[in-house]
Amino acid sequence: MASSLAWNHNGFLHRQSKGFKPHPSKPTLPKAPSSSLRTPKRYSLPPEKIEVFKSLEGWVSHCILPLVKPVEKSWQPRDFLPDSSLPVEDFNNKVRALRERAIELPDDYLVVLVGDMITEDALPTYQTRLNQLDGVADNTGSSKSPWAVWTRAWTAEENRHGDLLKTYLYLSGRVDMLMIERTIHYLIANGIV
Ligand SMILES: [Fe+2]
Repeated sequence: MASSLAWNHNGFLHRQSKGFKPHPSKPTLPKAPSSSLRTPKRYSLPPEKIEVFKSLEGWVSHCILPLVKPVEKSWQPRDFLPDSSLPVEDFNNKVRALRERAIELPDDYLVVLVGDMITEDALPTYQTRLNQLDGVADNTGSSKSPWAVWTRAWTAEENRHGDLLKTYLYLSGRVDMLMIERTIHYLIANGIV
């Protein structure tokens, strides 16, 4: 059946089949968001601080970024966790051993690990905040500017910490994962208020 594009009465283009009768009212475009939504809030630095960060870009490129290990040479959470590619019985034995060791952990330790892990898991919020700062922001999401490269490398590093802690705590059976996951959900959904 032949079809063509047409505006619907909500202001969106849609495909209509031949014989379709357009809505009699004039097409309207979706309402533009209010100016407070259109313009993201920025936490710009004072000009003199922006100048400092700009002046440090060469130093970041030559002294900091070379310290970031290539992905292939970096440890990954799996390196410290039961290997799920093992046969089921071997994997189960590894998890059982992990849980037996975790029984010995005092509650105080677990509180610290949970606090650390929840903090790591709010990385989207931190990355968003860093990218609101003029002078260091990653304006494209894949900017080559030294500060933007560093921010992405730092986020990827911290993300591994959170993944390791979360999987370890999950397997340990010592913590209430539902409450932890709800806390992370609230934390990321609310952002920095
Ligand atoms: Fe960390």
